[in-house]
Amino acid sequence: MKRERKLDKMVITSEAQYKEAYKKSVEDPQAFWAGIAENFQWHKKWDRVLSYDWSVPETKWFEGGKLNITENCLDRHLKERGQQTAIIWEPNDPGDDVRKITYAELHEYVCRFANVLKDNGIGKGDRVCIYMPMLIELTVAVLACARVGAIHSVVFAGFSARSLATRINDSQCKMLITADGGFRGTKNIPLKEIADEALDHCPSVENVIIYKNTGQSIEWVSERDHWWHLETRNASPEFTAEVMDAEDPLFILYTSGSTGNPKGMVHSCAGYMVYTTYTFKNVFQYKDGDIYWCTADIGWITGHSYIIYGPLAAGATTLMFEGIPSYPDNGRFWEVCAKHKVTHFYTAPTAIRALEKHPVSLVEKHDLSGLKVLGSVGEPINREAWMWYSKHIGKDKCPVVDTWWQTETGGILISSLAGVTRQKATFATLPMPGIQAILLDNEGKELKSDTAEGTLAIKYPWPSIARTIYGDHDRYKKVYFSAFKDHYFPGDGALKDEEGNYRITGRVDDVVIVSGHNLGTAPIENAINEHEMVVESAVVGYPHPIKGNALYAYVITYSNTEEANQKLEDEIKGLVARTIGAIAKPEEIQFVPGLPKTRSGKIMRRILRKVASGECENLGDTSTLLNPDIVNEIISGKVNTN
Ligand code: WT7
Repeated sequence: MKRERKLDKMVITSEAQYKEAYKKSVEDPQAFWAGIAENFQWHKKWDRVLSYDWSVPETKWFEGGKLNITENCLDRHLKERGQQTAIIWEPNDPGDDVRKITYAELHEYVCRFANVLKDNGIGKGDRVCIYMPMLIELTVAVLACARVGAIHSVVFAGFSARSLATRINDSQCKMLITADGGFRGTKNIPLKEIADEALDHCPSVENVIIYKNTGQSIEWVSERDHWWHLETRNASPEFTAEVMDAEDPLFILYTSGSTGNPKGMVHSCAGYMVYTTYTFKNVFQYKDGDIYWCTADIGWITGHSYIIYGPLAAGATTLMFEGIPSYPDNGRFWEVCAKHKVTHFYTAPTAIRALEKHPVSLVEKHDLSGLKVLGSVGEPINREAWMWYSKHIGKDKCPVVDTWWQTETGGILISSLAGVTRQKATFATLPMPGIQAILLDNEGKELKSDTAEGTLAIKYPWPSIARTIYGDHDRYKKVYFSAFKDHYFPGDGALKDEEGNYRITGRVDDVVIVSGHNLGTAPIENAINEHEMVVESAVVGYPHPIKGNALYAYVITYSNTEEANQKLEDEIKGLVARTIGAIAKPEEIQFVPGLPKTRSGKIMRRILRKVASGECENLGDTSTLLNPDIVNEIISGKVNTN
């Protein structure tokens, strides 16, 4: 049977085509994006491709267009691939049953649940909070919201009651969808209990729907609480999708700012759909029959864009994993790849670094011959991790796409296209078509020379840019559009090589000025990480009476004897001096058993900065950390800097 090939028309298959597409996207962005948008299903096409004014700031794509994203993710596939697996679900416990759901089944399930939402008073524009483990039902809940036109706000199921309540209240959610509990490794997270605690402070929530997952006993609030299975049982398997305006909000997703409350980034329907699908197809070069696995949690933007929306709109088979990379052992990722014959594997550098320190036999005992493409996302990938990933996982035959983007950008902005454009270790490489990336100096002047290093900025809108921060457009303007006039400011530093490849060097807010020299902490960490005994490091600045600021390095090593560490300290300083310059040598090095990490794997530098500065009393909220206990261990081993 002939498959639906329309989406394949947007796929770039050679370097020359990439160049051509990029050129067109800059010379005539509107014609370029209109051409891409033609490949989707619309109730009515747009009147205008783009209007924007970044002094407001305001960006509108495909205005006048009418659509529902779930018709593009589900209905349009029914005829040609209704029986194809849409989602493979791998349980936390490898002994439990795998679940597979076809496009036809997923369509039906989403329609049923959309009816449940409607029957519980949810309609267009209502906010619905989803606080669920990595289950197929999480995807169903997300898509059902989109189908009725409600705005979903997924909160990662590892967040505390307080974090959950803050997010629910910020966007005044009317409903919460959760589960009794969730399995993660050996842990059982009592989600309903946490949700109950949060809901004591959330008057806007009228109804709670609970999916029975672990079967553990839970408290019940009659009138408010409803079982998922009972509600769904008699719901109709048909639901006519709400017709949405292109610019109607699709979802809110919270991301932490450097200060203050989390920012509820608002993404809208049409532009987000077009851009995530376009980048999914092109970056990963996914083909019919491939099995794609992104290890992120759907609580993060990576999960929204590249587990759910991009892959499903593209008609792919996407894998969802309930568990964690270290359970039951540190070979789990590779076991899952072999078990499901995964072709595309997309994960974060922090996971690679964590797995790289375990015996390679844990990799080698699994058959990874099905892998075709590897991806990285979330932070700069250091050379060692890149090499290990490429060699041991990709067997030196899989392209590695290092994808740079943000919650705010909705989709990947800079990345190579797997096997199509050139890759370069530690470089995200070239901007996607439509992405006009530039480097600026500290005065906001564009650095036009072939090679340069500066602050990254984007000078033209792309379809999936977040339209605002929920309830706080002023903050949106201040954070993203005020650093440089009429430019989007992502807050990352980058350098560019002769061929225009970008290497993201790290957050510019992590710049430390030591004796008048601006030093990015990311390159120093990279240098330290080059040492074969180093697992991971974090470098921060602290006030120094003479230098203004000095550098303090927290280093995790493979060995932990005092003797070895003494020697290592000298070697690390020498290594940094050689790679970057003597000025970048850390003043102090503390060997630590771990680093405080956010749930998405980012090092919490705010805490490390405070500890290095000797302000150990007032560390702020550490409840969102993945490993809060590490903070006290670090404090007790602190090097005296006063
Ligand atoms: C920040 C955005 C994108 C989804 C996951 C994180 C850093 C992300 C890369 C990369 C270097 C990267 C940036 C960015 N980042 N990907 N490939 N290379 N840095 O989303 O939580 O919104 O974080 O992550 O610093 O600004 P996020």
